[in-house]
Amino acid sequence: MTQVLTPDRSIVLIGLMGVGKTTVGRRLSKALGLKFRDADEEVEKAAGRSVAEIFKDFGEAAFRDGERKVIARLLEEPPMVLALGGGAFVDPDTRAKVLNQAVSVWLKADVDTLMNRVSRRDTRPLLQDPNPRAVLERLLEARTPAYAEADIHVDASAGSHQTTLDTILQALQAREAKA
Ligand code: S3P
Repeated sequence: MTQVLTPDRSIVLIGLMGVGKTTVGRRLSKALGLKFRDADEEVEKAAGRSVAEIFKDFGEAAFRDGERKVIARLLEEPPMVLALGGGAFVDPDTRAKVLNQAVSVWLKADVDTLMNRVSRRDTRPLLQDPNPRAVLERLLEARTPAYAEADIHVDASAGSHQTTLDTILQALQAREAKA
C-alpha cells in the first residue's frame, strides 16, 4: 500500500499482553516513517532493571508510577509509534493524556489467541500464575471498558501481524480523510 499518511500525533497501541503491540508497532512505525518506542523498554531503561525485576524488587505500584511518568514524557516528544504495556491505559491519567494528545489503537484478540502468543515468552510477572489463562480472562473483562475508549478498534485475532498492520493503516487513512 502506498503510504501518504503524515501523522501529526503519536499513534499509541494498547491492548492485552501477547496481542502483538510491539511487533505490529515496529512495522507500523516503518510504514509511517516514525520512530518506535516500547513503553516497557523505556521503563526498564529508566529503572536500570527489567519489568520482572521491578515487580519483584519494588512491587506493581512502583512499576505503575514509573510507567505513568515515562509515558507522559514520551507523549511530549514529536510524533512516534508507541506501544504501551497492557495495563498502562487502565490508569486514568495515562488514558486521559493518550486520548488528548495521541491517536489510540486498541488491538483486540480473544483469549485463545493471547494464550498462544504469550506462551512464547514467560517473563511477564502477571502471568507467573498456575492459571495464566484465568488471569488473561479476568484482565480482558476488567480492562475492556478502558480499552474501548480508544479511538480505533482493530481485531488482531484472526490474521497475521501484517493483516493487522494493513487494517490499522486503513483506519488511520479513513480518519485522516475525515479530518
Ligand atoms: C502488563 C503488561 C506488560 C508489562 C507488565 C504488566 C499488564 O506489557 O507492562 O508486565 O499489566 O498487562 P505487555 O503488554 O507489553 O506484555
